[in-house]
Amino acid sequence: MDRIAITGGAQLNGIIPVSGAKNSAIKLMAASLLTSEPLRLTNMPRLADTRFLGKLLTRLGAHVDEREGLDGSETVLHAPEITSGFAPYELVRQMRASFNVLGPLIARTGQAKVSLPGGCTIGARPVDLHLQALEALGAKIDLHEGYVYAQAPRGLKGAEITFPFVSVGATEHAMLAAVLADGVTRIHNAACEPELLDLQICLNAMGAKVEGAGTSTITITGVAKLHGATHSVIPDRIEMGTYAVAAAMAGGEVQLTRARPELIDSLLVKLEEAGAGVIRTEDGVIIKRNGHRLEAVDLETQPYPGFATDLQAQFMALMTTAKGESRIRETIFENRFMHAPELMRLGADISVSGGEARVRGVEQLEGAEVMATDLRASVSLVIAGLVARGETTVSRIYHLDRGFERLEEKLGACGAQVRRIKGEPESDIDHD
Ligand code: UD1
Repeated sequence: MDRIAITGGAQLNGIIPVSGAKNSAIKLMAASLLTSEPLRLTNMPRLADTRFLGKLLTRLGAHVDEREGLDGSETVLHAPEITSGFAPYELVRQMRASFNVLGPLIARTGQAKVSLPGGCTIGARPVDLHLQALEALGAKIDLHEGYVYAQAPRGLKGAEITFPFVSVGATEHAMLAAVLADGVTRIHNAACEPELLDLQICLNAMGAKVEGAGTSTITITGVAKLHGATHSVIPDRIEMGTYAVAAAMAGGEVQLTRARPELIDSLLVKLEEAGAGVIRTEDGVIIKRNGHRLEAVDLETQPYPGFATDLQAQFMALMTTAKGESRIRETIFENRFMHAPELMRLGADISVSGGEARVRGVEQLEGAEVMATDLRASVSLVIAGLVARGETTVSRIYHLDRGFERLEEKLGACGAQVRRIKGEPESDIDHD
């Protein structure tokens, strides 16, 4: 398995272009199953997760063509026919969001057999809300031997769907299924994440009638058919936030471009509170810190527009060397502090109790061998390694490759000493 080695101590200075959002791209790719015409997605990130989903879509009958376009990487997805409605366990378990092909398959063909995704390291992550939404739309759902068997032979029907709590995946899934339903669907207590709005824009470009994404009520008026479209994937706010934290950690001055800083306001405010310089620009943000130590600040993760759970691990890494004690509360996932013991191997002073971590800043971290446990945790270890004395090696970086495009290259271009050490290929990866 590959590892990443970081020699700490170098400041970061330079420009980092932000890629298209992974979490948006994979839902947009699933939307291609809703039409027999080609969907062209530009500003596509090239990641392990998009590759996994591409493999599954191909198996279902789509042609997936990755190209270099004028606006960076693009993928053309074309499913003239759904040749199979079967999404097997070995493909779904590699990437949980693959489960979101279920809704489009039922909407387009009236039936599907899709594997349940199973657990993952950051929590149980059930899909009960996804299934409730599809049942409300009239699908008959049966669970056998780890598979969801879904049927709607006479098509889906518009419905009122009220989620008991906010779920990004379930909201997206309901939207993907309802666009071809007969009648009007209203989703109450919908997630407001920017990726929902991106999905709305793409679906509407395909001929759907969706309104309200980005607010807590989404209204979908079903249409009989969708057509092809071209859509540019929204910039990745989590990647942008990650490099913003990395720059604040290492010091120096980094300009993030091709980005939307308003999407990470809750992080930028915390960075300013901690003492980092934050300058919003037309297509991104400049983050700088010159020598002085940051102050500890507290945070609590919340659904958008609150502080993103996907940036919690990175911010914890930042707090390990800040002055004072930071309290970090995780409210979205029950087991999302797996990075804390690894950061402690680097000399961080952290105690975890239930959903709260207390981080007492130390003057200096020390390089060590550490292990990535999930996607965002893995990048928090790289961030800590940027300032740890000596060398830090992070193993199990297949997690990192799922969500960060050309990470060593992007950080290296700003002066970080980061290199990939090639290892044996992984035979059986357990992806969260
Ligand atoms: C998405 C993001 C992930 C991010 C998360 C929260 C993708 C591919 N992933 O994950 O990076 O961390 O949003 O911003 O977009 N839940 C249930 N039942 C369900 C669905 C969810 O109990 O049917 C729970 C989950 O276990 C979790 C909470 O709801 O505790 C929120 O999860 P959700 O918003 O659904 O996250 P994902 O869509 O899986």
